Amino acid sequence: MATRINPSILAADFANFESELSRIRSADLVHVDIMDNHFVPNLTFGLGMVERLQQVSSLPLDIHLMIDDPARWAPGYAEAGAFSVTFHAEATTEPVAVARRLRQIGARAGIALKPGTDITPYLELLPEFDQVLVMTVEPGFGGQSFMESTMPKLARLRTAVDQGGLDLWLQVDGGITAQTIEIAAAAGADTFVAGSSVFGAENPAAQIALLRERAGSHRHGAGNLE
Ligand code: DX5
Ligand code: ZN
Repeated sequence: MATRINPSILAADFANFESELSRIRSADLVHVDIMDNHFVPNLTFGLGMVERLQQVSSLPLDIHLMIDDPARWAPGYAEAGAFSVTFHAEATTEPVAVARRLRQIGARAGIALKPGTDITPYLELLPEFDQVLVMTVEPGFGGQSFMESTMPKLARLRTAVDQGGLDLWLQVDGGITAQTIEIAAAAGADTFVAGSSVFGAENPAAQIALLRERAGSHRHGAGNLE
C-alpha cells in the first residue's frame, strides 16, 4: 500500500505560494483547502486561486472543498485540472451525482466526513468514490489537535475497502504530526494531509520524509500495533 503525504497550503505563507510550493517538492500532492465561511466558519480562496496554482505547481492538486452546494461548485475545480476534488458529505443530498460528474470531467472524486458523521450510509456507495477523507479535526482551521475518536470509523473503512477489493484512498486531515500519523496509519489511512507540521518545520523536506517513514513503518497490516 502506497503512502502519500499531502502538505496543506493553509499553513503556508499566503503571499508566497510559489516559493512555498518549492519547499514541498518531495510531497505527493498539494492539499488545497477551500472554505466559504458558510459550511465552515472560515474563508480562504476559490477557483481563481486554484487555476493559478494549477499553472505553477509541479505536484497534482488535492482540493478539499469545505463549502455549501458542491453540486454547483465542485465541477469547476475538476475543469481547472485538479487531480482530485473532495467535497463534504454533510453539504449535499446527491453525493453520487457529484462524484460521477467529477469523474466524467477527469478528476478523482472524494467524499469527506466530519468527525461526528457516521460512515454507515456511505459504505454501500464506496465504489462511486476514489477517496474518502476522514476528518481528524472539526473542519475550518489548521493547527488543531488530532481526534483519536475518529479512528474506529477509519478502521471500518479500511475493512470495507480491503474486503471489497476497492481501489480507494483513505485520507486523514487535521492534527497530523510525526506522532499521530502512526495512529492513523495503523488504523488504515494511506493518504495523510499535514499543514502546520510540514510548513511549520525548519526543513519541510525532512519533515515529509519523517512522516512518510513513520506512516510506512506503522501501516495497517504491517504487524506492529495490530
Ligand atoms: C482543516 C483543513 C486542514 C488543515 C490541516 O479544516 O481541512 O487541511 O489545513 O492543518 P493541520 O495539519 O495544521 O491540522
Ligand atoms: Zn483539508
